Amino acid sequence: MLNIPLMSNNISEEDKEVLADFIRTSDRFTNGPKVREFEEAWSQWLGVKHSLFVNSGASANYMTMAVLRELYGPGEVIVPPIAWSSDISSVFAAGFTPVFVDVDMSTLAMNEDEILSHITDRTRAVLLTHVLGLNGLSQRLLDELDRRGIPLIEDVCESHGTTMNGKKCGTFGLASNFSFYYAHHMSTIEGGVICTNNDRVYQMCRMFRSHGMVRELTDEDMKREYAEKYPDLRPEFLFAVPGYNMRGTELNAVLGLNQLKRLDGNNARRVENFKLYVKNLDPEKYFTDFRMDGQVNYAFIVLLRQASREKFERLTELLRSENVEFRRGTAGGGNLARQPFVRKRLPDFDPSTLKNTDFIHFYGLYTGNYPSLEKEKILELCKLLNRV
Ligand SMILES: Cc1ncc(COP(=O)(O)O)c(C=O)c1O
Repeated sequence: MLNIPLMSNNISEEDKEVLADFIRTSDRFTNGPKVREFEEAWSQWLGVKHSLFVNSGASANYMTMAVLRELYGPGEVIVPPIAWSSDISSVFAAGFTPVFVDVDMSTLAMNEDEILSHITDRTRAVLLTHVLGLNGLSQRLLDELDRRGIPLIEDVCESHGTTMNGKKCGTFGLASNFSFYYAHHMSTIEGGVICTNNDRVYQMCRMFRSHGMVRELTDEDMKREYAEKYPDLRPEFLFAVPGYNMRGTELNAVLGLNQLKRLDGNNARRVENFKLYVKNLDPEKYFTDFRMDGQVNYAFIVLLRQASREKFERLTELLRSENVEFRRGTAGGGNLARQPFVRKRLPDFDPSTLKNTDFIHFYGLYTGNYPSLEKEKILELCKLLNRV
């Protein structure tokens, strides 16, 4: 039996010690100095001006879309069909219409020509998800979006440390979202972060995170403007935007600070694991032409080379028989445009028009790649897959 789970426990004994020490020696646990310290450490690690810690990656998605809506008004957002449900539900929740475009097999991210051909005068943003640790961006796409004045939002929830031309993903867009859910490259148990170099976006996020309150602003001019505009309201209870409560706690931030120390080392192992995996897969049977530069793989991608339901069934049977955990459809379970919450809201959109996405949906899956996964197991897994 191969016995490969999707992930290994990434909360270490040392993490628990650090957390226990903090609890014993502190009396403030709600959002405070540790959250700020983690936000600063994260900004420095990523290479951005501002980071705002929130309670999940999904919350980061929801808040980013709410800020976009506040700044740019209603319209369409171009979205990926291979992502996570909150990438799409956040677009609906903010009152935008999602426009799905097909993906590239080599990155599982949206195809750049498809993105550009779907831009209209109603497009308010492009939300691009870097899938399972593969970079989904190109310089050409960035240049074109810049030329057309279309903001880019990057979802990097499953791609911490992935780079394009040596620069970390999550630094290219107007804003980016990361998740620190238990299973990801690093964890705060639950948690997420919104990153941006834009001062206004950052200030808006601060308000959205805490009930829409003006007192959360760190820009004193903005604060004064609101107070002067609404003299009938008390500045400490001035709700400027329809906000949420999506704050993280000090406990999550303490964990994040400790986990961040291990992130680069763990990522280096994920990179090597994926290289070994791709090198040993049979390219006649499986798609192996992934974009490898800048990858920090999160889970091994198993994609049949040719469509065959029978082969795919055999493949899943074999994995089950060896107790190798897997998820069908890759990230987010495959074609999100097929999900009921999307079908209900976009009844006229035919999800089967997304050809590559549907191929991945029916003939793709992922298995675990985590730092402690042994080389021998990776080679055994490849042997098993190559037997199909
Ligand atoms: C691409 C992507 N976006 C958003 C999320 C949501 O993150 P969270 O689970 O922290 O809410 C995930 C979660 O796995 C994800 O993979």
